[in-house]
Amino acid sequence: MAAIYIDDQTYKADPKQNLLHACLSLGLNLPYFCWHPAMGSVGACRQCAVKQFKDEKDTRGRIVMACMTPAAEGTRISIADPEAVAFRAGVIEGMMINHPHDCPVCDEGGHCHLQDMTVMAGHDYRRYSFLKRTFRNQYLGPLVNHEMNRCIQCYRCVRFYREYAGGRDFDVFGLRDQVYFGRQNDGVLENEFSGNLVEVCPTGVFTDRTLKRHYARKWDMQMAPSVCVHCGLGCNTTPGERYGKLRQIVTRYNREVNGYFLCDRGRFGYEFVNSNHRIRQAHIADDENTASRTKADAIQRIASLLVPAARVIGIGSPRASLESNFLLRTLVGPEHFYAGEDDHQYRLLLTMLDILRDGPSRSPSLREVELSDAVLILGEDVTNVAPRMALSLRQSVRQQPMQVIDTMHIPPWDDHAVRHVLQDAKGPLFVASPAPTRLDDVATRTYRAAPDDVARLGFAIANALDNAAPAGPDLPGDLRSMVDEITKALKNARRPLVISGPGCNNEAVIQAAANVARALCTTGLPATLSFTTPECNSFGLALMSPAPLSQAFTAIRDGAANVVVILENDLYRRSPARLVDEFLNRASQVVVLDHLQTRTSEGASLVLPAATFAEADGTLVSSEGRAQRFYQVFVPDGDIQASWQWLLDAMAIAKNTAQPWEHIDDIVIAMAAAIPALAQVPRIAPGAAFRIAGEKVPREPHRYSGRTAIHANIDVHEPKPPDDLDTPLSFSMEGTPVQPPSELIPFFWSPGWNSIQATNFYQSEIAGPLRGGDPGVRLIEPAHDGTGKYFDRIPNVFARQSQEWLLVPLYHIFGSDELSFVSAGVAELAPKPYVALGAKDAAALGLRAGEQVQIQLDGAAYRLPIVINEELPAGVAGLPVGLPPLTGVQLPAYSGLLPDREYSKTV
Ligand code: SF4
Ligand code: SF4
Ligand code: FES
Repeated sequence: MAAIYIDDQTYKADPKQNLLHACLSLGLNLPYFCWHPAMGSVGACRQCAVKQFKDEKDTRGRIVMACMTPAAEGTRISIADPEAVAFRAGVIEGMMINHPHDCPVCDEGGHCHLQDMTVMAGHDYRRYSFLKRTFRNQYLGPLVNHEMNRCIQCYRCVRFYREYAGGRDFDVFGLRDQVYFGRQNDGVLENEFSGNLVEVCPTGVFTDRTLKRHYARKWDMQMAPSVCVHCGLGCNTTPGERYGKLRQIVTRYNREVNGYFLCDRGRFGYEFVNSNHRIRQAHIADDENTASRTKADAIQRIASLLVPAARVIGIGSPRASLESNFLLRTLVGPEHFYAGEDDHQYRLLLTMLDILRDGPSRSPSLREVELSDAVLILGEDVTNVAPRMALSLRQSVRQQPMQVIDTMHIPPWDDHAVRHVLQDAKGPLFVASPAPTRLDDVATRTYRAAPDDVARLGFAIANALDNAAPAGPDLPGDLRSMVDEITKALKNARRPLVISGPGCNNEAVIQAAANVARALCTTGLPATLSFTTPECNSFGLALMSPAPLSQAFTAIRDGAANVVVILENDLYRRSPARLVDEFLNRASQVVVLDHLQTRTSEGASLVLPAATFAEADGTLVSSEGRAQRFYQVFVPDGDIQASWQWLLDAMAIAKNTAQPWEHIDDIVIAMAAAIPALAQVPRIAPGAAFRIAGEKVPREPHRYSGRTAIHANIDVHEPKPPDDLDTPLSFSMEGTPVQPPSELIPFFWSPGWNSIQATNFYQSEIAGPLRGGDPGVRLIEPAHDGTGKYFDRIPNVFARQSQEWLLVPLYHIFGSDELSFVSAGVAELAPKPYVALGAKDAAALGLRAGEQVQIQLDGAAYRLPIVINEELPAGVAGLPVGLPPLTGVQLPAYSGLLPDREYSKTV
């Protein structure tokens, strides 16, 4: 550490960092705009000016930009120097000349970095009295709103969108003395991370368009630490609620997981919580007057179904919390608890878990993904399956080229200089997949092939890395050279990474990835291995070792069971409809706990309204293997409560257990004792009894307004806030003003810092871990150091069929996930169902884009338009995952493609 002097006080600072980073890390107030902790410095806004002195005798000094000056040993600066203060005030006065001063009607007002910096810089009187320049705003799609007049030209947006996130349809345009940040034409922003503009832009140019529909100020929202439920990555989020409605999601910083950013599915997919399709009341099917029934009746009913004589089975869910799954498992008994997912997917999850537990490669955090310097992706469309990881991979390709800047003595934070030196240089990233992916533009090389051939490539690479790995298949010359190129790049890396997952639904692909990672480890490299998981708790459910779903079907069919309890799961998305129909029809009683009405809940005898992530507490295990706690944001209307609470209530009445469980802490402790793989879960967050100086942590900011006014038309008495007996958080603005442990941070706020930039004051250093460590505990660590075995079942070369195509799954960030698809903005951006076909195959069949074809899958026929996908291999076609009516379709599968014209001849 270097000794630096700020306003005659001595401080320690990281000499590899700049002075702005140092000042903010020390908790000092210094305004800034263009610098961003994840994107570095460009020195564009001149807002972070400080006076620098040569030594203690220098009284004159000179103005420098803190973000562009290293915090070198002996550096002496003043933030409070009158000239520096006047400089900063002058800069912001200049920025404010054209700023519209429309804070009262601006969605950013109250959590605006520009407001905060204006106050901090001391600009409080407007001297300019002429016309302001104005711009026309653009329509940028259903997620992000544009109000260009508010721009202060800091360039953060374009740097994020183009340089950090790889977007191409957004830029800065200049004409005379005006610059414009937007698209060439109105239109939906194409980049999957566009929502981060809302947080990156320091003013109200880009705001959350979904929030607009049900707007509330940040200080009026009730918030709690949460975890995204829309893919397996477990990004940390802060949802905000008011008047019983979820209003928005913003990023909750976690250095190891999502850092400063979220994907658009995670940010904007929350509206299913407010959906009209929510189940809000318990429903008893044989009841003629459901409205007159109480919650207690429903609990009584489920308890009566659980009497010991009944033959009850439970079906768990990869999108339900550990606690809810564990309660169901306890109620029905571990031997009657089944995985609520398609058997094949479940088997792949178990394979991936075994590989990660066996080692030698460990699963990396997203930060480690970002720091990887050579990456091989086998079979996954990362951007559409695990979107935030794709953003990390876009940074990883800079790692190798960045090595040169050391030799040139350019600090990594000097972003403009770094990008000038690197230009478009990219490190190794290889993508092998059946269809094109959104990362192909930064890939060194791509390989399009059927899943089995993707696996064969992986096996060949493993063998080339370590000849103890099973002999690679004979490959044609061009593939052989690709294997050599990939092998060389991985071997030359310092931190190689292999990514795979269940995206192709092909076990050999996963095993090939494991072989490559193992082979790399045998060469002494610290290779990491990342598997994507399809849902927010896929690994959590798998760690409980439920039996496969098909065995549940068998149990009901054979009469071994007659009552089924289905937890937060639409089985029609897991299995072909005919199998689910038969299963549900044969069961004498079907109990469904879920958030939304689904085809599964339609026929149930008892439907219980289950709380969403925003209405319950629980734990999820991410694809990294990180267990993380999400907290209830608000108390919902109606009968809604956490699934684990319903089951706990039923358990108490059924008395089929002697467990004296009352709260989530009791469940977590029991779960840790019962399931060794979950033994660490109690460590992830403080228990309900945790207090700071005797006080709870408030979910509401201290400026929260209108508690008495909210329902003034009904009653002017101030209602007592609901009690929270399960956690150390309160449903109130009363509580400790002290920063809580990182797991319990309900929102980021610091005096004078009302925007999300207040995150700075919760970190041990800027962009470092949160104070006390980042939330979450890793549950999956490798047990061995490379002594295990290679997989050796290498598949045969894919042989195309003459009349049938191998239909492989294709994923969409908007549409493939069940819950976010219920949100209006996400649904608007989801594609319509289609079948994708390679250009040559389409030409051979005489098919044009848009033409309808019929496919047959598991006895059902689907009529779909053709989408030409230039790169799909011959004999392979693609079907989108999760889009109705294709839900429940099991892929890959073979089908003919019957053009409409042929079809009409047959009927
Ligand atoms: S739109 Fe926002 S982020 Fe972009 S330059 Fe203007 S103020 Fe900065
Ligand atoms: S990457 Fe996944 S977990 Fe992260 S915000 Fe997006 S959908 Fe949510
Ligand atoms: S933050 Fe330093 S010049 Fe913009």
